[in-house]
Amino acid sequence: MTAFPKAFLWGGAIAANQVEGAWQEGGKGISTSDVQPQGVFGPVKERAPGDSGIKDVAIDFYHRYPQDVALFAEMGFRCLRISIAWTRIFPQGDEPEPNEAGLAFYDSLFDELAQHGIQPMVTLSHYEMPWGLVKRYGGWGNRKVIDCFERYARCVFSRYQHKVKLWLTFNEINMSLHAPLTGVGLEGEPAKGAIYQAIHHQLVASSLAVKACHEIIPDAQIGNMLLGGLMYPLTCKPDDVLETLQENRSWLFFGDVQCRGSYPGYILRYFREHGIELEISENDGEILKNTVDFISFSYYMTGCVTADEELNARARGNILSMVPNPHLASSEWGWQIDPVGLRILLNTLWDRYQKPLFIVENGLGAKDKPDAEGRINDDYRISYLNDHLVQVGEAIEDGVAVMGYTSWGPIDLVSASKAELSKRYGFIYVDRDDQGNGTLERSRKKSFHWYKEVIATNGGSLKR
Ligand code: BG6
Repeated sequence: MTAFPKAFLWGGAIAANQVEGAWQEGGKGISTSDVQPQGVFGPVKERAPGDSGIKDVAIDFYHRYPQDVALFAEMGFRCLRISIAWTRIFPQGDEPEPNEAGLAFYDSLFDELAQHGIQPMVTLSHYEMPWGLVKRYGGWGNRKVIDCFERYARCVFSRYQHKVKLWLTFNEINMSLHAPLTGVGLEGEPAKGAIYQAIHHQLVASSLAVKACHEIIPDAQIGNMLLGGLMYPLTCKPDDVLETLQENRSWLFFGDVQCRGSYPGYILRYFREHGIELEISENDGEILKNTVDFISFSYYMTGCVTADEELNARARGNILSMVPNPHLASSEWGWQIDPVGLRILLNTLWDRYQKPLFIVENGLGAKDKPDAEGRINDDYRISYLNDHLVQVGEAIEDGVAVMGYTSWGPIDLVSASKAELSKRYGFIYVDRDDQGNGTLERSRKKSFHWYKEVIATNGGSLKR
């Protein structure tokens, strides 16, 4: 007996720009990811002839997906979360007609998955958009981009209506506050008001996608995708607790709009007090009422919040600008490891929204070193995932409706934050380093066999 329901969707999650490569094949246009060689927070570097970057080939999933899907199937995956590269379908973003070669690529991928009994879950936009839309219209700052996105969404819903029944709109939609080019295609250092205006357009677009999905594929489910940035108060001082409430609302705001269909009072107060006046069209309020069917989120870590300015100033010097939790250990990248936080987050979201939840990213980025026989004994990854999954089981026992779990990067891929290959998440090792050297050959790590057993026993093999 395990807590996990029989139909629990076990699997993994990847994103087009971090695995596919083939950045100029099949008529693909240039995306924001293609001009950010240093990752999602990095500066823009326009492409010049002969330039190359790690993501141009990534792990060559575009050509090697049959082999990779077979390996996922060997682990028993029931679900694979992928994203469609918008630029494969509409290379510049505003063409009247889609690019057939791009559509055909995903058709083949979905067929391959179907042959192995793996259900696809598709993110419409995962940290990339056509660079053409940024250059021509100023990204999501311009309402015109809503129409371009809706055309793209309707196009892929129609094309894949019989193949894809699980959809997500924008990956980690709340990240736009921290990475505006990646999230909403705003260049330079935009003011908060400009970012929220672009976010408003994106929220409207997300709701239009929900509406379109319900019309075109009535038996599909479509969710949002949040970066689950759960924060704890550093102390029980009321000021710290209040500051934490505000900090958590800065990302829950997105969930509130996408799940409840309107702007909450606390954000309106924030706008008033910060001189932010959004241009909202008459019809937008009605459109936002198209709320998501389920909530998906990523979970990697938690952090602490304090009202103490001196401590905050010190934290701003850290990689993540979060006040560290003195009770938690960190990964090699300084991400604090907190399995219990996942149970708290699942319960928080369930209590707030009462909509089914899907953990679509979770995992440990680590430097893997092959032993003398070339094997990777990644016990650290097994222990991280085991402990998090045990807490998912606890949340299910608490009564939370959890649809599934797709671990991040089931195969090593290019990291989003730093565009590194040495930050590995996979059950499957890929022979390629940060400089692009290596055969791209795939091999099974110890965690591959571990995850296979977890899925086969529906979580029964997890160690409490
Ligand atoms: C999430 C993103 O932020 O975290 C992924 O949706 C990303 O695209 C993942 O890869 C892990 O972050 P990183 O920087 O370690 O790749």
